[in-house]
Amino acid sequence: MYGKDTLLGQLNLKELYHLEFGDNELRRLEEWRKLPTLYQLALDELKNKIKLIQTEWKIHNGYSPIEHIKTRIKEPKSILDKLERKGLEMTVDNMVNKIHDIAGMRIVFSFVKDIYSLLDHLRKREDLTILEIKDYIENPKPNGYQSLHLIVAVPLTLFEGQRWMKIEIQMRTLAMDFWASMEHILFYKFEKQVPPHIVKELTEAALAADALDKKMHGLRKEIMGSLEGNNP
Ligand code: GTP
Ligand code: MG
Repeated sequence: MYGKDTLLGQLNLKELYHLEFGDNELRRLEEWRKLPTLYQLALDELKNKIKLIQTEWKIHNGYSPIEHIKTRIKEPKSILDKLERKGLEMTVDNMVNKIHDIAGMRIVFSFVKDIYSLLDHLRKREDLTILEIKDYIENPKPNGYQSLHLIVAVPLTLFEGQRWMKIEIQMRTLAMDFWASMEHILFYKFEKQVPPHIVKELTEAALAADALDKKMHGLRKEIMGSLEGNNP
């Protein structure tokens, strides 16, 4: 068991030489040190899978459903803060087992319908497992936030054997992404009391984003429907 400072401190190898650790503790420190690399590799693997799907989709349907993909690894300090918030001990086991968003991927789509098509596809794949689905598109948060969140596990083949790494995937449309980015900048991280009229206006803005998605879907249906054999 380590305090936050010890865990953060071990990132600085020089400090390590002045501390005395048993074999077991050193193994755990090694584990903590290699975690970001493993999560990054898992993200790279997943991104490649998605890119391949994107290419195939383009060949079959004539357009790419995905606007862009972003990935990020949670900063060590944010991981430790999250453990603290959850009242969990700062151990590598807790990080790996209890924090599901150390590796994060955001996939931004043009149309809502394509988010669910990708979900259907991911469900069928054997080279990843969906551990959890939170559908904030079907059930938006009270503030209007919309996205489809998945926790998936992706296998990495290592010397030690196969290891499944967890990744949080957020899938949303451009309109949802625009709203979430603005809302995030304004409030999400500040945890301050938001004046009620601002909350109300933000929620209205989320409804406007939703209406825009529906309008685009209607237009797409009309355009694609007029092309022979297409079923948008
Ligand atoms: P945490 O991971 O601790 O946040 O709890 P959780 O796993 O219950 O969260 P959830 O799956 O609901 O959301 C995880 C992530 O979605 C957050 O870290 C944000 O990136 C994003 N998110 C969730 N709610 C909001 C919101 O209201 N506004 C914005 N901008 N982003 C949100
Ligand atoms: Mg989460």
